Amino acid sequence: MDHDKQDNQMHQNKKDRQLDQFRRQNTGNPMTDINGQKVANDQKTLRAGKRGPLLMQDFHFYKKQSHFNRERIPEKVVHARGFGVHGVFEATESLEEYTMAKFLEPGTKTPVFVRFSNFIGNRGSKDTAVDIRGFATKFYTEQGNYDMLALQFPVFILADAMKFMDVTHAAKPEPRQHMPQATVAHDNFWDYVVSNPESAHMVMWVMSMRGRPRSWRMMEGYPINTFRFINKEGKSTFVRFIWKPKLGVHSLMLDEANIIGGVDPDFHRRDIVEAIGNGAFPEYELCVQLIDEEDEFKFDFDILDDTKFWPEEEVPPKVVGKMTLNRLMDNFFAENEQSAFNPSNLVPGIEFTNDPVLQGRSFAYRDTELHRHHSANYEELPINRPISDVNHNLRDSYLKYPIEQDSVHFHNNMQAENTPAEVSPEEGGYENYPGQVEGHVTREHPSESFQDYYSQARMFWNSLSMPEKQDLVDSFSFHVGSVKNKDIRQKTVEMFGNVDTDFATMLAENIGVEPPQTAHVDYEKSSSALSQLNTPHSAWTSRVAVLIGDEFNGEELKKVLDALAGVKAKVDIVSETLAPVKGSDGLELTPTQTFLTVHPTLYDSIFVAGGKAKNQMKFDQAVMDFFKMQYMHMKPIAVSADAEQYVLQTEDNNMEGVVLASANPEFARQYVDALAIKRFWDRT
Ligand code: HEM
Repeated sequence: MDHDKQDNQMHQNKKDRQLDQFRRQNTGNPMTDINGQKVANDQKTLRAGKRGPLLMQDFHFYKKQSHFNRERIPEKVVHARGFGVHGVFEATESLEEYTMAKFLEPGTKTPVFVRFSNFIGNRGSKDTAVDIRGFATKFYTEQGNYDMLALQFPVFILADAMKFMDVTHAAKPEPRQHMPQATVAHDNFWDYVVSNPESAHMVMWVMSMRGRPRSWRMMEGYPINTFRFINKEGKSTFVRFIWKPKLGVHSLMLDEANIIGGVDPDFHRRDIVEAIGNGAFPEYELCVQLIDEEDEFKFDFDILDDTKFWPEEEVPPKVVGKMTLNRLMDNFFAENEQSAFNPSNLVPGIEFTNDPVLQGRSFAYRDTELHRHHSANYEELPINRPISDVNHNLRDSYLKYPIEQDSVHFHNNMQAENTPAEVSPEEGGYENYPGQVEGHVTREHPSESFQDYYSQARMFWNSLSMPEKQDLVDSFSFHVGSVKNKDIRQKTVEMFGNVDTDFATMLAENIGVEPPQTAHVDYEKSSSALSQLNTPHSAWTSRVAVLIGDEFNGEELKKVLDALAGVKAKVDIVSETLAPVKGSDGLELTPTQTFLTVHPTLYDSIFVAGGKAKNQMKFDQAVMDFFKMQYMHMKPIAVSADAEQYVLQTEDNNMEGVVLASANPEFARQYVDALAIKRFWDRT
């Protein structure tokens, strides 16, 4: 092994080293066939005479074409559009009192692979769709793989696994023309919603800003369903997990998300690729909410009901570890597309509860991957393999990689001294919790409160700030406004009248139906944790466009760029063309984008440096367009002393968040402070 490779391996974690065995570089080497023969001609087929037919004996062509014909595998039935990144999880707080899971022992570092995804759209749809997002983490622990599948909301759309197919059918494109793609702005989805009232709560979350994350780095993750922790003494505690991003929770406005879907459908993956490439590794804290077994019935929600969250004020989250995403995939297909997650991949110390959705999920994931990969061996694919030892009597099926040498592959046996041998729970064997079961065979809900559809939906509404409420009304109006069937629109208004009468009345007005006859439920709780305005705000890694022409003020620009570098901002120099621009002090700068290649919605902010251009009128227009759109989206704007002509102050606008350089020695610092605020909701 060469030194570079050896050195590299020393810095790798166990999963990296395992993946290394499968990495292959074709670049720089002679071309061979799939079975190793060197290829002399890869460009022309073998023919009988110059003008004759192809010969079947052209096995190279046959392999090339037939392999290509089989390149695609079915996309995931849901969460088809996804993107994976590698990282590490480090446990920081002892949970020994609650769980024996070893990867949660403080100081333990566990390699992880995280796949972010969209629920509805197909593999080629857009990142910024208003949608449910997946946040699936595979922990490669020393006790085997533990998969934690999360969404960006704390509640789910159904309370019984039986309905999963139905809600998915309703949300996906209408089956005759397969339209519309990657959106719930259509009749089928809202027909489902009004016909299945337990969906009301999650729909509030989907329609809220949280349905449109600014970045996966600014999105919470909730595995939603209730699990159990089991400690060494066998005591069980109910647990829900939460991922909290270090950067706080931030979102796109609805029209931004819609526009970005067209101008950069890869917006979220580009964002994480840029951040990791820039060394600004995304970080998330893992929190747990714990409820003692004795307290199972102490709350006004059922802890087994996944259409309800556990309010942080009632069940405070405890931070137990940190995840850092620090490495990009080598190959999208091998890692992202072949990855398979399964909530049944558990480790000792973590178990299911009787949450009826979780129970249904325990079967669904393996089954769908068996179909997708056409083989019982998909867990042997490099991205899915555990780093712990694997010894079992499962055999054969399509594409078996390991060459099992055993002559005995059954249990119990004498010839192999009964190996592979069972492991006692004391020595790490997985043991199911001996929970008590009672009752008759039934299809009833576990408790009455499963049918309280609106209390927590109202709590969510009560907790939102004014801009978030306005945004929610707009988002509902956009989606339900696209529904053609007036009865469904009317029923939506009636349904959400149970959540808030004013809200439903505003909606009714916007979508041309009667105000609700329903009155909202009597539930006045709120939770400050539910408003995005209360999460961390920071300028870190903001995306900034510097709009610039010739004769810009070099000294001023340098100060701004230094300040932006201090917060690892991603800066694009945007000009008329990609030809270098020259400052009045002779400083030369090469633009990275032009007004044609990017769109204002792609940036968190702009710095208007201004300057001269070949086509000054066109340049001025482009700068004005950027300015107007940034202003409209309440984003911070910085303006050079030489570019104030672009600031159109009238009596009606208050210029909140517009930072001017003119006679302002604090300009650069003030600009970074404004970047941290992100949106100036009081702007007029
Ligand atoms: C009855 C309820 C549910 C059923 C039947 C179900 C089923 C499925 C299926 C079949 C997939 C596709 C998996 C694949 O092709 O690899 C999937 C993906 C996923 N599910 Fe669920 N799901 C349910 C609820 C949930 C809930 C409550 C969560 C999270 C709290 C969740 C999180 C995810 C995630 C993150 C993925 C994407 C995994 C990936 O990136 O490959 N699901 N689900």
